[in-house]
Amino acid sequence: MVQDQFLRNSWHVLARSQDLQPGTILQKRLLGEDLVLWHNGDKALTWQDFCPHRGARLSLGWVHKDTLVCGYHGLVFNTEGRCVLLPATPDQPPPARACIQTYHIKEHYDMLWVCLGIPQYDIPTYPGWDDPSYRKVLCGPYPFKTSPLRVVENLLDPAHFPFVHDGMFATSRRPELRHHDLELHPDGFRFKFGIWEVDFNSKDPSSAPMLPVTYEYFIHHPLAGYFERHGEDGTRLTLYYMVTPVDEEECVLWFWILEDYLHMFSDQAFVERQDKIVSQDYLTVESQKPLRLPLDLKAEIHLPSDRYSVAYRKWLKQKDVTFGAI
Ligand code: FES
Ligand SMILES: [Fe+2]
Repeated sequence: MVQDQFLRNSWHVLARSQDLQPGTILQKRLLGEDLVLWHNGDKALTWQDFCPHRGARLSLGWVHKDTLVCGYHGLVFNTEGRCVLLPATPDQPPPARACIQTYHIKEHYDMLWVCLGIPQYDIPTYPGWDDPSYRKVLCGPYPFKTSPLRVVENLLDPAHFPFVHDGMFATSRRPELRHHDLELHPDGFRFKFGIWEVDFNSKDPSSAPMLPVTYEYFIHHPLAGYFERHGEDGTRLTLYYMVTPVDEEECVLWFWILEDYLHMFSDQAFVERQDKIVSQDYLTVESQKPLRLPLDLKAEIHLPSDRYSVAYRKWLKQKDVTFGAI
């Protein structure tokens, strides 16, 4: 069992709500633990993916009415995770020990969130979610073979935008950053900076006009958060990221984008554009050594432009996060 209490007691995204239809099963992994997600026709449930009889994976079984049946010897478990039938000896009562470790699951922002411990921290709010003037697009899942903390830190690191994403939105012609603000709170931090972006209306990014934009980030969860992008022309875009900590060196990135100005891209073209941006991140982020995020600030070199990453590492250290860290 993972000892990291901050992550154990936080909610983590595992799937889109639509991925788990009534009567179906999903096999997932969270914080190094195998899980079975299933839908009993009324609600989603998540349990340890382990049958207490002979240790088979329950996700190999099936849903029957509002019960889950293990595929090995057919033991039937009710929604509380208690065995209610031994098919080979149906007259015998199941042993009291024949029950399964259950976990918390809930639906939020059209996603399924799971907590393996005692839920102590709320799912971060996403302002604008109910505002119909935004287009709403879900991007991902994007699996990464590295620490979930490395993937989040990459999202908080604007100095890489002009190089890794040159011409996609930022530009190497103007890589300088404008720092505006960094506020630390016990439950997280907020920061604001400015970058130069290329004008998306231009056909050629290498000569496109450049526009100053500001980004403001709000972080209250180790693996989920959001930012607002403000253009000087009043255009709005917000991104809400969610990283699933599968294992210490394996994770999945998802994000919602709400925006009101990129009408030149169809929904499909918009998602393909985000796929391309993330594919640019894969190469560099998965190449970072060590894969786990060093929380000792002496382990890597920190530049003035790393102030947000440094705030993230300090906050994780303060909260005793160890999963995916060294
Ligand atoms: S291992 Fe599940 S019923 Fe035997
Ligand atoms: Fe990036």
